[in-house]
Amino acid sequence: MRDRSNSLPSPGRLLEVALEAANAGAAVIRDAAPRVRSIEWQTKKPADFVSEVDLAAEATILKIVRAALPDAGILAEESGSAQSAEERERGVLFVIDPLDGTTNFLHGYPEYAVSIGVLINGSPAAGVVIDVALNETFTATAGGGAFSNGQPIRVSPIDNPRRSLIGTGFPFTRVEEVDPYARQLAGIMKGTAGVRRAGAAALDLAAVASGRFEAFWETVLSPWDIAAGILLVREAGGIATDLAGAPCPVARTGIVAGNPAIHEWLMGELRTE
Ligand code: IPD
Ligand code: CA
Ligand code: CA
Repeated sequence: MRDRSNSLPSPGRLLEVALEAANAGAAVIRDAAPRVRSIEWQTKKPADFVSEVDLAAEATILKIVRAALPDAGILAEESGSAQSAEERERGVLFVIDPLDGTTNFLHGYPEYAVSIGVLINGSPAAGVVIDVALNETFTATAGGGAFSNGQPIRVSPIDNPRRSLIGTGFPFTRVEEVDPYARQLAGIMKGTAGVRRAGAAALDLAAVASGRFEAFWETVLSPWDIAAGILLVREAGGIATDLAGAPCPVARTGIVAGNPAIHEWLMGELRTE
């Protein structure tokens, strides 16, 4: 294969391509939304679905990325990657979730997104999350800040857990994790203003970046759920780590993200549960 590390595009150029591709993917999803009841969908594993819309959005996104940057590596939820794990650590890698929140979409619940994170040599360089139903576009580049519809965003300044709204995701495909998770959830519910499970991790991370949630945690997510969102959080002044407190890798991992004060509090609470 070609050497993907020579003359890499700038984060700004990567954002431009990711944004064009994400907008095209979002248009596919938006067009399909009115006929949601007649959409074909399959079960990947219990409670994990893929529909013709996920596949169509991904095909549209891939076409645009490949035409603009033929040398870029790709890791996409529905079609995987042509590169080895080692190759994915070098050069440019587009990490694509064509439809985050598929279950919500299939039920007409308006909380779903397109998420595209772009890595350079394994580190997040650019990211786009589009809230398709609300038409809100979150963007970030490494060192360039985070934005919602072009306006700068920051994490929340609230540092009192009792005033904090916390996002989470349930371990819905892993029954063995339900009991330990339920103990975590009970602890967080008792110490905060509330907990929300909206069902699209990329939007949960965007909610942290834009100060709507003080923090968010989920015990297992995939690279495409978080590649864009962790950059949004960091560029908005927040912290995103794995469950042990190490900087969150773009990998299959648990995640804790928040403003600095509530991230620290949440880490402490999760350790004691
Ligand atoms: C899912 C959503 C959900 C999270 C799951 C993800 P999908 O993504 O982000 O909120 O709890 O772990 O798999 O399957 O709708 O793209
Ligand atoms: Ca997802
Ligand atoms: Ca998805």
